[in-house]
Amino acid sequence: MELRSTAMELLPLVCLCLLTWSGTTFADGNEPKIISVSEGHDVTLPCSLSSRENIQGKRFDWKKDGQQDVFLYESGDHYNKQLSGQDPQFRGRVSHFEDELKNGNASIIIRHTKLTDSGNYICDFPGRQTSHIQLVVGAAPEPYIRILGETKDGELLQCVVRGASPKPKVEWKDSSGNILPAKDPQVSERGGRYDITLQTTVTETGNYTCVSTQEEINHQIYAETFVSINGGIFNTVTIACVIVIGVLFLLVVVLAVILCRRNNRQRGRY
Ligand SMILES: *[C@@H]1O[C@H](CO)[C@@H](O)[C@H](O)[C@H]1NC(C)=O
Ligand SMILES: *[C@@H]1O[C@H](CO)[C@@H](O)[C@H](O)[C@H]1NC(C)=O
Repeated sequence: MELRSTAMELLPLVCLCLLTWSGTTFADGNEPKIISVSEGHDVTLPCSLSSRENIQGKRFDWKKDGQQDVFLYESGDHYNKQLSGQDPQFRGRVSHFEDELKNGNASIIIRHTKLTDSGNYICDFPGRQTSHIQLVVGAAPEPYIRILGETKDGELLQCVVRGASPKPKVEWKDSSGNILPAKDPQVSERGGRYDITLQTTVTETGNYTCVSTQEEINHQIYAETFVSINGGIFNTVTIACVIVIGVLFLLVVVLAVILCRRNNRQRGRY
């Protein structure tokens, strides 16, 4: 009976990754643009002078949350050359686009993003123009499904999402996409990462998915499992058959032995 559960867990997990750029820029340029990225990936933070003039001989300054020095460019010098003062969090991970400077483009790329890179960034051309960007770095682990076994109400399924950030919404759905009633999820948080466990009980054979949605980063990922409800009855019938056949076989063997002995004895008398 347990074999059925473990085999089903090995069904391929399907992942739907809809990681997209989102956000809007407003006319005054002061509303933050929201950019999202998955932890560990690189992200480009855009910033350009509206005049598109050459900025190779100019200065621009990227800061995070008003105080952390992310990247400073000053007439050809910058944090990856001579200039010092970069926040250790960003050391060796931030670059500008040298070839784009002549187009007024002061965008930077942050490599191997970490959850702590999330925050509000400003790109500042002193005395001229400031752009605001909100960066959301997310962690989107795959849900993990276990079939816990039969209860008096049906088959108990458990879905665990571990280490997700920002906090995901976790749901059980049937193959038609209907959300299944579930107990309240167990939620725990450590260092901005969330562990979520959600159980549901199903009464019909079919495919069930556990969906984890993080709206802030436009991300959805799910795992699927097949549940066979009649499996229990089927297995009972199989076991009963095996026992009956076994008993019949034993009877035949015992009868055969008895008959053989009787034959031998009768032969011995003559
Ligand atoms: C600035 O340069 C980056 C990197 O090449 C590019 O992705 C972005 O589109 C450029 N921005 C503009 C406004 O051209
Ligand atoms: C469950 O999904 C599998 C593979 O996606 C499919 O072959 C099977 O027919 C589905 N079963 C049911 C009962 O919907």
